[in-house]
Amino acid sequence: VGTSATLALGDVEGTRVAYIADEDAHGVRTVDLSTGAELEFTPLGGAPGQLLITADGRLLVAIKDRASVAVFEPSTEKKSLELRCLVPTPTEPIALASTPDSTRILVTSRWGHALSVLDSATLKRLSTVDLPRDPAAIVTSRDGQRAFVSHIVGARMSVVDLTGDRAVALDLHQVERAVNFEGTKSVRWSYGQGYTLVRSGEGKILAPGVLANPSSGPDAPPSTGYGPGGAPTALTEISTIDDTTQQVGANPVLVSSTHTDCLLPRAAAFEEKSGRLYVACLGDGVRVYDGRAKRPNLNPVRRLMVADGPTGLALFEEGKRLAVWSQFARTLSVFDITIRPYKPKVWGPQLTTPPVESEETIALMTNGSPRATKAFQLPSHEGAAISTNDTLALGRRLFFSADAKTIAGDGRVCASCHPDGRDDGLTWSTLDGPRQTPILAARLLDTAPYSWDGSNADLSSHVRRTVKRLMGFGLDPKQREALIAYLGSMSVPRDETPIHDKITVARGQAIFQSPDTGCATCHSGGSTSDAAGHDVATQVKSDRAPAFDTPSLRFLSQSAPYFHDGRYATIADLLKGSDGTMGHTGHLSDSDRSALTAYLESL
Ligand code: HEC
Ligand code: HEC
Repeated sequence: VGTSATLALGDVEGTRVAYIADEDAHGVRTVDLSTGAELEFTPLGGAPGQLLITADGRLLVAIKDRASVAVFEPSTEKKSLELRCLVPTPTEPIALASTPDSTRILVTSRWGHALSVLDSATLKRLSTVDLPRDPAAIVTSRDGQRAFVSHIVGARMSVVDLTGDRAVALDLHQVERAVNFEGTKSVRWSYGQGYTLVRSGEGKILAPGVLANPSSGPDAPPSTGYGPGGAPTALTEISTIDDTTQQVGANPVLVSSTHTDCLLPRAAAFEEKSGRLYVACLGDGVRVYDGRAKRPNLNPVRRLMVADGPTGLALFEEGKRLAVWSQFARTLSVFDITIRPYKPKVWGPQLTTPPVESEETIALMTNGSPRATKAFQLPSHEGAAISTNDTLALGRRLFFSADAKTIAGDGRVCASCHPDGRDDGLTWSTLDGPRQTPILAARLLDTAPYSWDGSNADLSSHVRRTVKRLMGFGLDPKQREALIAYLGSMSVPRDETPIHDKITVARGQAIFQSPDTGCATCHSGGSTSDAAGHDVATQVKSDRAPAFDTPSLRFLSQSAPYFHDGRYATIADLLKGSDGTMGHTGHLSDSDRSALTAYLESL
């Protein structure tokens, strides 16, 4: 209630319907929840993020690649959605929320890293608050004074004061003291995959995510894979945040109990009466936890198997039923979640892949087992290329939800470190030295060779090395080909609202290309790379070799920190710190320096 999802339930003249924001079909589906019949398909001309039904019955849909929110009103005559207007937002709007008094609408923009506050009645933008990178889900405090915004990357949550326009960050790093043979050592676990937030009804906000331990401080020993050898690198985490005190619940990491049941959480719902927390996990179905426990992640209750790619959840009939939208399989499943003995019964006109109970579900079963009542596969529509291309669909499945251990021995997948084909902002220890995760989307086709040290001539050999580092079983040639096709197809949103003016950017470009700075001698051509290795004096103790392949500078503004070991948090720090070892910047005036930074941020 009050927060958006890819799936929302409504009523059309007494019929219970599901509205689905389908990013492959580039539109909104209106589906009769009891028959599975698609009543209407409303094209959006772009990929939707989430949708929200407002208190007065409007349907708002964030369109990620059109930098706008579409506002629909159900038309009673035609029983269909009618577009009222498009409200512009910063680049890549993804999630929405309304304040408890319904006077304001909040929108997060991921690429544009901002929260927009709109007047609910007029949809005028009241303010825009700048946020750290990759903001995602929003919930408001009960009094409507603050908005809590999750971040997909960066181990933080933002708390935005809605009475002013200030954002304060809550740190979601957790330090654990581990004892090993070298003595006591602190491990800094870093929270990520913050795609979803849910209110638990008791002044608490639950934040399903993942804790990562990349183990790559300057003195960290080289590891055999990505992260510490032998120790866990990724754990399911459900942080609790107090809505009033803004305290992050005491939730020390317990490494002895490896809870890696959900590593790609994407949506959550809390059922008040039972206190159960439902979390949709890509590659893992829907996990059910005791949402009132101090540490919900250590209190799993059961698992519901659903079709591939669950991204949306909605409870209905007073919490007795759960609807699940599986984006990859284009399937809407409905579960009866009242506690009853296990007796599968699957029906529906368009059924193709019924959800199944796994042995694991039965093992976790405490008091009866979930019953998948219905699963409807919905018709396909022409939208994104992936909706009609089986190779890309297989590639995506592998990227996000490969079968356990195909990619990594510990259950991680590509999207664990490359969320939506971007980067996790972390620096992982490897046998070759510390390696910061690069953005992949729209950055691979003209930037061979691959890896920071340029040791892989093509994507196929890089992917093979990745799977080896992750100790996965490996991909067969057809799978590898599909994965590579998918890597090449990933895109980023067009920047609708550049942060710097054209004249400053052009001046910065001239400085970049001047012989005085020398930047373009290595960062040359359209790919901003000469595809050659150079020693720019960045080798650290655990680096095997001193030379690095000149990296592409595309999307720098979205991919902090910088350098192979992530040593610089900002471009300004990088320009200051690398003067004389990587080109020359010491002679630049402050204004030239900021023009150069503007150019770099515009790439
Ligand atoms: C544990 C985190 C992690 C996982 C999981 C992961 N990557 Fe990476 N990825 C990285 C890091 C770190 C680098 C830089 C590696 C290096 O330079 O040696 C990288 C580099 C890459 C590159 C090279 C980019 C360039 O411009 O040079 C590609 C392509 C890539 N990853 C694809 C994948 C695919 C496909 C998967 C799944 C099979 C995957 N990654 C899984 C962290 C990860
Ligand atoms: C001699 C070749 C060379 C020159 C000249 C050069 N670079 Fe680089 N650049 C590199 C290499 C190699 C790296 C990777 C170093 C590392 O990660 O350890 C790099 C990394 C960077 C990065 C970080 C990219 C990322 O994603 O982390 C930026 C930004 C950058 N260079 C900007 C510049 C600017 C601005 C100049 C001119 C002042 C410049 N470079 C001059 C070779 C060069």
